[in-house]
Amino acid sequence: MDIDKIIEEKWTSSTRKGYVAIEGFMLPQKYQDSKTEFDNLKVNKNDVWVCTFPKCGTTWIQEMVWLLGNNLDFETAKQKSLDERFPFLELSVIADFVDVFKSKPDLVLPPRVDDSLNVVKNLKSPAFIKSHLPLQLLPKEIQHGSKTPKIIYVARDPRDVCVSYFHHSTITDYFEVTFDEYCELFLAGKVIYGPFWNHVLPFWKKRHEPNILFLKYEDMKKDLKKVIKEVAKFLERALNEEDVNKLATHLSFDSMKQNPSVNKEASVELVKSIYNKKSDGKFMRKGTVGDHKSVMSQTTISKFDEWIKDNIQGTDYVV
Ligand code: A3P
Repeated sequence: MDIDKIIEEKWTSSTRKGYVAIEGFMLPQKYQDSKTEFDNLKVNKNDVWVCTFPKCGTTWIQEMVWLLGNNLDFETAKQKSLDERFPFLELSVIADFVDVFKSKPDLVLPPRVDDSLNVVKNLKSPAFIKSHLPLQLLPKEIQHGSKTPKIIYVARDPRDVCVSYFHHSTITDYFEVTFDEYCELFLAGKVIYGPFWNHVLPFWKKRHEPNILFLKYEDMKKDLKKVIKEVAKFLERALNEEDVNKLATHLSFDSMKQNPSVNKEASVELVKSIYNKKSDGKFMRKGTVGDHKSVMSQTTISKFDEWIKDNIQGTDYVV
């Protein structure tokens, strides 16, 4: 399979001006144009960052972290969307909203969606910030350790990430690749924010630093209450058993799927209309572990297994 041809012919939208490799990571050209601003972003020690490779359970952990950081204010969490409470640092470079405005003048976009960097710059501390940027591209103050905000990183089995990312891309992107082609792109590190391992392992290596908490999606599925307690401890928040139970119920897949404040239905519908998509896919899709087993061919699973083995060799990372 000619990976570059797939990208060139099937996966470069008019609103996303191609991909460039920045320090080895696949990002839209638009990111390159603002890179210095991201590098030089002033970081506040009291802020809380959620950093992930896409589709690893970002939204799930964000809702948990925000509620823990805000004294379980379920009322505000219901009224204000998570995207507003917990802004996505590089949102405006992931899609070219300015071009979207020009091509669809009647479209109503959420306020300041084209200006996410300034939204984050103007947040009052302690702020809650989401980013999919790898450690190597986070603001210099974080990379050099001169500022140490709390950072929660969530990883997930890359085979399930690939399946979830494929579905996400079919509903939110200009995108015509088949699932098999997508798997090849994923393995080659050519999906946005790839390569996967260059994203996960640098955070894994730093997991013992006091301002970093490294979690796995599978552990959240296995014992959510345990993870809630772990995150509460990391954020220095006291919780009683009743709080833990309440939060676990709120964070269940079924509850989040029904919750318009976190289920991203409005933004997915908006993006579908931008790309004239007819898909009825949902952001809150399945929320399970091991989904790849039901959709990947045995050949693809074997390729992934080999790729996982090669990449975690010499580390103590376990998938
Ligand atoms: P699936 O596509 O496998 O269902 P992100 O927020 O990083 O984009 O991750 C999205 C993935 O997390 C989706 O996976 C979504 O269904 C899953 N997810 C979101 N909330 C969840 C929850 N409360 N419980 C389990 N999985 C959840």
